[in-house]
Amino acid sequence: MSPPDSRSSQPEWWRTGVVYQIYPRSFRDSTGDGLGDLAGIMEHLDHLDGARPGSLGIDAIWLSPIYPSPDFDFGYDVADYLEIDPRYGTLDDFQRFVEACHGRGIKVLLDLVLNHSSHRHPWFQASRSSRTGPYADWYIWRDSPGRTLLGRRRPPNNWRSWFGGSAWAWDEARGQFYMHTFLPEQPDLNWRNPDVRKALLDVVRTWLERGVDGFRLDVFNVFFKDAALRSNPRQVGRRGVWSWQRHLHDRNQPELNELLAELRGVVDEQPGRMTVGELFDGSIAQAASYFAPQHLVFDFLFITVPWSAAAFRKAIATREAAFGPERWPTNVLSNHDQPRHASRFEVAGGSGVGGVGDARAKVAAAVLLTLRGTAFLYYAEEIAQRNLVVPNSEAFDPPARRASLLFRWWNRDQARGPMAWGGGPGGGFTTGKPWLPLPPDADVRNVRAQAADPESVLAWYGRLLRLRRDTPVLHAGAQELVEPGDRDVLAYIRRIDGAAGLVLLNFASRPAIIRVPVPTTGRTWRISLSTHPRGPDETLAPSVTLAPLEALIATES
Ligand code: NOJ
Repeated sequence: MSPPDSRSSQPEWWRTGVVYQIYPRSFRDSTGDGLGDLAGIMEHLDHLDGARPGSLGIDAIWLSPIYPSPDFDFGYDVADYLEIDPRYGTLDDFQRFVEACHGRGIKVLLDLVLNHSSHRHPWFQASRSSRTGPYADWYIWRDSPGRTLLGRRRPPNNWRSWFGGSAWAWDEARGQFYMHTFLPEQPDLNWRNPDVRKALLDVVRTWLERGVDGFRLDVFNVFFKDAALRSNPRQVGRRGVWSWQRHLHDRNQPELNELLAELRGVVDEQPGRMTVGELFDGSIAQAASYFAPQHLVFDFLFITVPWSAAAFRKAIATREAAFGPERWPTNVLSNHDQPRHASRFEVAGGSGVGGVGDARAKVAAAVLLTLRGTAFLYYAEEIAQRNLVVPNSEAFDPPARRASLLFRWWNRDQARGPMAWGGGPGGGFTTGKPWLPLPPDADVRNVRAQAADPESVLAWYGRLLRLRRDTPVLHAGAQELVEPGDRDVLAYIRRIDGAAGLVLLNFASRPAIIRVPVPTTGRTWRISLSTHPRGPDETLAPSVTLAPLEALIATES
């Protein structure tokens, strides 16, 4: 085993580092039941730690939820915050996992789902059983204000569920409505109750004591709702029922700032710990407003940009304007909720291994890993794994099964396909029947095949990650967009302590002749890395021709 790596013992690792998101159901199944598990992830730490050629070299793993869950929302409905779902392993397995990761210099981040629990959580069971018992006020309960003309009970206000329908569900047992931002099986916890607040902060403390290095906070900006539960004002919206109201009162309440400060205090009790908040349906300005040292916020700008240098340039400029030089952003191209970016950036007929789609995936990886900000990779993006094609009628994803003209939804199963480790049945993911099918091209697009190919997407990720790690200007520098004279080329300079890095990315499938920014007096731009053959230590002339879909990184010397 390699010695712990010094990079992740830096207190600022959460800024400079790279986080790798694992969707545990789909990473590696060690038991043959078709679902991934902790022991399976441990089998593949070599792929992640960067100790050997062909290994990525990431700084932290973020595990999507591994708590016991009835899986109405695949782990995002937690039935016990302090246990491990037996399908993934035991608490002892988890402790072994944390030790193994730490031994390799990898941090471990857990996904904390604190806005809502599962309806099967004992807290909710107790809460629905009595209006006066100790858990009565742990969720958001209200009487019905009356009946409609058709005799149906009216909900307490007009709030909607993100997963379709009203945000209120009637509970016969208690004879009241309870609120759910997501599924009825995910009742929202009442953060205004001091007992709830204490219990949830104790959950945070317990996992920190168990050695966890930080948390991804699921939909943290929804924790508080308006105390008086006022209805949202209506508006004309074009994106289905959700957009027909301004979400003024069901999220982003002022009380959140004080809670975040308290939460950070708890996390900061132990050095080097961090959180990254998932901003739910919010603006870039809101994302920036919630940033604080040791607390990153996702803004997801790059999750929706189309394949165009101009669109990326605009998104980067918007982000930099909102965050300013002091706040530290995050960079994300894919996650478990969105289509995989290798599919988003696909070209008809270009999906074969080594085709145009893969060339674009390499350019995208260069953006992700050289832009200012903490980079988040999503498992299997390093082999440019594509979306699965799963019709809504066969979806596991609950909102996909309810999709309609008024409630538009995409099927999130598409992004959750099993990781293709090798060829053959099960693709090295499982010896059994995988819970979702492997991608149809898994026999040729897999980790084993790409590890043996120096021109593969995987090999490119490895080279980029190494360069980022070894080059302070790339992991910590300030950033400035430059105009290279071709609208299909995205270009920016990173600077720190007198050092400079230049990133040139040709989004077009044709060569591009560009102006190279003038280097600091007395220095030249020396090529550190390119997707295309370039001479060792080649320097850049004032005008350079980039190959089609070339990503080139140079540093001053
Ligand atoms: C955001 C998570 O990313 C998503 O997967 C989940 O369905 C909702 N939060 C509800 O927890």
